[in-house]
Amino acid sequence: MRVKSPESLIAESGADLEGHGLKRTMGLFQLVCFGVGAIVGTGIFVGLSDTVAEAGPAVLVSFVLAGITCVFTAFSFAELGGAIPVSGSSYSFAYATLGERVAFLVGWCLLLEYGVSVSAVAVGWSQYLNELLDSLFGWQLPAALSAGPSDGGVVNLPAVVVLLMAATLLVRGVRESARATTAMAVLKIGILVAFCAIAFTAFQDHNLTPFLANGVGGVTSGASLAFFSYIGFDAITTAGEEVRDPRRNIPIAIMICIGVVTLLYCAVAVAAIGALGADAVGDKPAALSLVVDDVTHSTVGGGIIAFGAVVAIASVVLAVMYGQTRILMSMSRDGLIPRVFERVSPKTSTPVRGTWIVAVVFAVPAAFSSLDAVVNLTTIGTLAIMVAVNVSVVALRRSHPGLKRSFRVPLYPLSPVLGVAFCLYLIWGTGWTTWVQFAVFLAVGVLVYGVYGRKNSRLGATPRTGAAAEAARGA
Ligand code: ALA
Repeated sequence: MRVKSPESLIAESGADLEGHGLKRTMGLFQLVCFGVGAIVGTGIFVGLSDTVAEAGPAVLVSFVLAGITCVFTAFSFAELGGAIPVSGSSYSFAYATLGERVAFLVGWCLLLEYGVSVSAVAVGWSQYLNELLDSLFGWQLPAALSAGPSDGGVVNLPAVVVLLMAATLLVRGVRESARATTAMAVLKIGILVAFCAIAFTAFQDHNLTPFLANGVGGVTSGASLAFFSYIGFDAITTAGEEVRDPRRNIPIAIMICIGVVTLLYCAVAVAAIGALGADAVGDKPAALSLVVDDVTHSTVGGGIIAFGAVVAIASVVLAVMYGQTRILMSMSRDGLIPRVFERVSPKTSTPVRGTWIVAVVFAVPAAFSSLDAVVNLTTIGTLAIMVAVNVSVVALRRSHPGLKRSFRVPLYPLSPVLGVAFCLYLIWGTGWTTWVQFAVFLAVGVLVYGVYGRKNSRLGATPRTGAAAEAARGA
């Protein structure tokens, strides 16, 4: 139950700035683009069809429910990000409020939200790369080299390549990566808006009926699936040490991101279903390309969408991998995982070794697994983290009522309580198979903490009086 005080978290990151730490290079616009870069990707381009198959035209309600869940939780992220603006996101927040054990488990779940999902997203990228090659040259990479064994291939080489490319950009420094992410975010919003404009020309309102085709149950499981396409907005809070004026910019960027993305997703869903009907959209994995091909009676439009997806998903890989390296950096600083992850190269100001380790380790599932295999696990892990974040807000208000906060959740404590309730609702929608898998994953996390983290914790290694003082300040 060791607690790390917010003051010491902030002081640590400040100390780094004067030494070999990270540079504050990101402004509000870059930060919003970074958020959109982390959010919009596989979920809307690849996952939309599964979500529509689950919920029918009422997928709109599913998207709104998932969006509302994110809004309440985003308020909590914004309050915590504005109060404790350091890299590490939910992990650091939990360390400052709920204690080391919970923080370790949050960090452990972040391996699902970032690490495992970066592998999954890379697999989605590979699918769309083949779509693009098909529409450009009428040729695809052989299945043996572009899919894992569970999808009828041997090794998914494009998925591995995209991970290595992202790592190359990231080790060269945040300025370049952020610039690349900004361009990609603008492009992907443009592609989705263009999709809506084309699809709405074929809109037929009878395609939206029966609205509640699969009942309330369909809406609930649809909302859990839709949630995957929102994952990543909290990546903004992992950049706390690289943002100018973080207390102001982090909460504003989160709000803008969720608002823009929710509007975009609802518009894309209505446009797609309005043009082709829910059954046709639910049937095809590359639904967006299919809708455009069908509406324009040519494969050019679908090819452009495939190009957009390749770019969009690549930017998710970049942003998610960035987030993972920064979280591992924070955990490493605390001694909970090996120190190699905290080392920042004086030449590039980035954690070079940590980035390469992440790329190589998560290239293994990317090479050999399918997208579906990990999406639900990523979703439940992220929702569990969000429960912890909402609880952290309440805990921090109680332990540090006087701490400077640039943003306060509205209607406290209703907002974090509703955040927890919505997260639990979506966890319920993932189904019992996922619950069991997640329980096993958590049990392994508890074991790793017991065997490594607890013994190597720097907070635990501080003299007893120091630790007691930390805990007392936190209590
Ligand atoms: N939200 C991210 C995506 O849809 C994970 O790709």
